[in-house]
Amino acid sequence: MVDRSYQVSYPQRGSVLGESEIAAVARLVHSGNSLSQGWQRLEFEERFGRHVGTPHALSVTSGTVALEIAIRLLGLRRGDEVIVTPQTYKATIQPLLNYDVTVRFCDVDPRSLNATAETIEPLLTSRTRAVLLVHYGGVPCDMDGITALTRPRGITVVEDCAHAIGSVYKGRRPGALADIGCFSFHSSKNISTLGEGGMITLTEPGLAERVERLRSNEADAVYEESLQPIGGWTGAQPWMMHPGPSFTHRCTAVRYGGTNATLSEAGAVVGSAQLDRLPALMARRRLIASRIDEVLARFPGVSVQAVPPDATHSYHLYTFFVEPESGIDRDRLIDRLDALGVQMQLRYFPLHLLAEWRARGHGLGECPVAEHSWFHRQVNLPCHPGLTDAQVDRMTDLLEAALAGERGKSGATAAGRTVAVESAGVSL
Ligand SMILES: Cc1ncc(COP(=O)(O)O)c(C=O)c1O
Repeated sequence: MVDRSYQVSYPQRGSVLGESEIAAVARLVHSGNSLSQGWQRLEFEERFGRHVGTPHALSVTSGTVALEIAIRLLGLRRGDEVIVTPQTYKATIQPLLNYDVTVRFCDVDPRSLNATAETIEPLLTSRTRAVLLVHYGGVPCDMDGITALTRPRGITVVEDCAHAIGSVYKGRRPGALADIGCFSFHSSKNISTLGEGGMITLTEPGLAERVERLRSNEADAVYEESLQPIGGWTGAQPWMMHPGPSFTHRCTAVRYGGTNATLSEAGAVVGSAQLDRLPALMARRRLIASRIDEVLARFPGVSVQAVPPDATHSYHLYTFFVEPESGIDRDRLIDRLDALGVQMQLRYFPLHLLAEWRARGHGLGECPVAEHSWFHRQVNLPCHPGLTDAQVDRMTDLLEAALAGERGKSGATAAGRTVAVESAGVSL
């Protein structure tokens, strides 16, 4: 592994935590209140639900747990089929490995890298039970077309919104666009709940009740039961309503084995403080993205990730594409940028090509657009509010120099301006 200290690195933190978050944790600690399952969590959930626009928002300990629970809610049975996007982080679909179902990878749109109605429709059958999507990088999927396919067929759509905090689609927020929304507040995400955390957003009260029980070890059945004392045993227990030779008591039981996955109070107070800051954090992401956009616009054959009409990007990831007509070799470009100190991480390796999915019969050629994109044309750049102005200047200078160098190798000009190779201190 190359050990480099990058001048412009991918985020260890996707958000900026400051005095308001520290003060919120200090208040909590000094309050003497419980640090588990208290009212701070309820307040954060209420606020997050209002932000997303769903009546129910239930916090959990990570985005992965949110997805595990969402997939449990689907009640999948042997022989069911689930359509999934290949262009996401593995956690979106990993829980499906535990079910005896057929997973169908739909391809993605080459401009947005999102699954679309066109890529999903050919895979629909009478056994399709669910579709798992991601709003890749923070660009909302074109959900109207997708839900027009799924709603009449009773197919549940799970939106993985791990990248989409701050995105908007036609005046609504991801997480409220289909049936179940799953969010991550991991340290790298647009807002964080002190490192780990997640949220499930829902409209259906019955599902919300099930999530409540699944995430908190709660019994989900209450019934009256009559017991006959066993021989020699006479001790009455405090929970018995009518101790005596024969008695009835209220009994609770767990039908669906759950877990304890509730967000800590510390995570919740930090999450609330981060929600207050979201507009400023988004403005910073947009500003950085617009600086990169300006550079890329000077290079024909280089395009940015397409956003549907009436939608806004959260810029969780900044993705662009290098097409053959640009005369730029993608692999050389990313090697060069990485060597210059701009950290390169290509997100994400198409999931159907991961060993666990190949072992289940998936493989090359199944999603040609996603494969071609990852292997040949896509580039991801660091874009997070922790970048300083100097780092943004440096990245945009290096990007311009690297693109120009790869295109012509002759001190090429971009839009009539000589590329500032010298000022970037780059030797090409
Ligand atoms: C698209 C996507 N889904 C799910 C997850 C999992 O979230 P977490 O890290 O909170 O478990 C991530 C985060 O890394 C992600 O990027």
